Amino acid sequence: MVIVGFLNSKGGVGKSTLCAAVAVRAAQESKRVCIVDLDPQESVADWWKRRGAPQNPTLFVGADRASDAAEALELTGWDWVFLDGPPGALAVTEDAIKTSDFVVIPMRASGLDLLASQDAVRLCLDNATPYFIVLNACRGGNKDKLVEEARSTLFSNDVPIARALVSQRAAFVTAMTRGKTGAERDSAAADEIDALWKEIKTAAQKAVKSKRGGA
Ligand SMILES: Nc1ncnc2c1ncn2[C@@H]1O[C@H](COP(=O)(O)OP(=O)(O)O)[C@@H](O)[C@H]1O
Ligand SMILES: [Mg+2]
Repeated sequence: MVIVGFLNSKGGVGKSTLCAAVAVRAAQESKRVCIVDLDPQESVADWWKRRGAPQNPTLFVGADRASDAAEALELTGWDWVFLDGPPGALAVTEDAIKTSDFVVIPMRASGLDLLASQDAVRLCLDNATPYFIVLNACRGGNKDKLVEEARSTLFSNDVPIARALVSQRAAFVTAMTRGKTGAERDSAAADEIDALWKEIKTAAQKAVKSKRGGA
């Protein structure tokens, strides 16, 4: 079981959007994919119901904290578990960071988001949980000035960043209200989520391997 947290105490950065999209992508190649909604607003749980409450990815209900969810899920056996984190609630976020094998910190390419994402980065470092930042809702691709600026700031602070970039696309918004993901509605979005999933998969599997090796 590999646990990947989509976590950032800053709200509105794309945790739920990317968590749902990556879980659906993972479910294309794994039979046992589970999402844990840690946000009391339950936006991913509502999305999953609109989707028709599928078995893959399924939704785990019954725990407010990631550590409790992981304990229960360990008994039933899953390939991938994706945690959708809440805004604020640093204690819940820290528990989720401790529970995750790998953390994805979505962020928009803006100075304010850089500052607001520092808590999540610090918690990953404090708990020695491997992580990377994903720049989400980018407007102009790799050449965008804000993307360049965010990348160089993160790079100079030794903060790891995913190579994959997720663009601002209407499909990510409209699909969610219909129980779909942006990647299921827009082929350019699908390419981005595909690249992101491959990067997450490699990084998370490496993290699990080194944890086992070190245990
Ligand atoms: N790549 C994207 N392109 C366009 N809109 C996006 C994108 N990612 C997220 N959004 C929108 O931004 C808002 C916040 O995203 P959400 O996933 O709910 O963030 P969080 O879970 O971090 O609070 C939502 O309205 C969502 O539809
Ligand atoms: Mg959310």
